[in-house]
Amino acid sequence: MDKLKVGVIGATGMVGQRFIQGLVGHPYFELTALAASERSVGKKYSEAAKWYIEGDIPESVADEKVVDANAKIVDEFGLDLVFSATPSSIAKELEASFAKKIPVYSNTSTYRMVEDVPLVVGDVNPDHMKIIEEQRRNRGWNGGIITNPNCSTIGIVVPMKPIFDELGIEWMHVATYQALSGAGYDGVPSMAITDNAIPYIGGEELKVETEPLKILGEIKKPLEFPITASCVRIPVLNGHLETVTLGLGRDFEVDEIKHLLAGYTARAQELKLPTAPNPPIIVREEPDRPQPRLDRMAGNGMAVSVGRIERKREKILRFFALSHNTIRGAAGASILNAEIALKDGLL
Ligand SMILES: NC(=O)c1ccc[n+]([C@@H]2O[C@H](COP(=O)([O-])OP(=O)(O)OC[C@H]3O[C@@H](n4cnc5c(N)ncnc54)[C@H](OP(=O)(O)O)[C@@H]3O)[C@@H](O)[C@H]2O)c1
Repeated sequence: MDKLKVGVIGATGMVGQRFIQGLVGHPYFELTALAASERSVGKKYSEAAKWYIEGDIPESVADEKVVDANAKIVDEFGLDLVFSATPSSIAKELEASFAKKIPVYSNTSTYRMVEDVPLVVGDVNPDHMKIIEEQRRNRGWNGGIITNPNCSTIGIVVPMKPIFDELGIEWMHVATYQALSGAGYDGVPSMAITDNAIPYIGGEELKVETEPLKILGEIKKPLEFPITASCVRIPVLNGHLETVTLGLGRDFEVDEIKHLLAGYTARAQELKLPTAPNPPIIVREEPDRPQPRLDRMAGNGMAVSVGRIERKREKILRFFALSHNTIRGAAGASILNAEIALKDGLL
């Protein structure tokens, strides 16, 4: 199979760098265009990006010129699809201009909750991608937009899925402890976060309170149970830790939950997709795990680590979940979605 030519919009940012890490040497995709803002256009990638990932910028990318994030690059570079990681403030028109021509795998929040736009976690609800056909008809687009959720949502919907299917969920409360990279390179000033925790992340709680309902529901029929979220920024570089408390449809034993989570696999694993973690959920038995520094790279940054699983009261389950916010929660999730779409003939 010839590799598909792909571009990254927002290639110099926190998520853009993870796209580069995940796409260099990818068996299905050839990284062909690196696009960013006016600030970076014309510079070598190594000059434009403040590389924050361990190790050097991949050689094949370091000297590449950053290009303008404009849909003209689709024809210029012969792109088959793009991955988007731009600020959501500019995504509406920018992503639409690309979607007219080719599929856009988007990390931004702009289109996530729009009815004819799939909000997909590859190893939870890949069937939702089918709505892309309707989106193309509705909008007269040849490509379309496929979104993945907020980085905090992804870390909880993966363990929620087998629990929801087996026991039912009636309500949920989530408390998050979120890493700095979630706010982008210039996101939180060091004077604000050092020796501190900030109990406010603009817009985040609403995303965590709504996105899981769309993902775990049926296409165009989101679930309706109540979710409350409390989101806190902490001085950790990567990896969001979350406390999840669930009111379940029936009572349970802790071992049943552990067995469900540890044994969970989905089609992404059956298809042995390159970016699919196997297993997608790692159950930790230690009383002080999961932790961001120790567990964020589990499954190459794509697995969700779950620990402190407890039955708090009848039908009330509590656990901690940890996932890498820029890999599992962003770039890796988009790449996995594109791998599935390719297998399902949607590209
Ligand atoms: N960080 C996370 O954990 C995470 C997780 C899930 C989703 N997201 C979402 O992903 C998106 C990117 O986040 P990030 O953390 O990577 O942000 P970031 O580090 O601030 O990077 C932003 C990127 O967008 C580019 N950009 C800015 N303005 C642009 C414009 N007018 N036209 C074209 N490109 C432009 C920047 O290019 P220059 O370098 O040239 O300025 C940079 O490449 C956001 O929508 C965010 O909400 C982030």
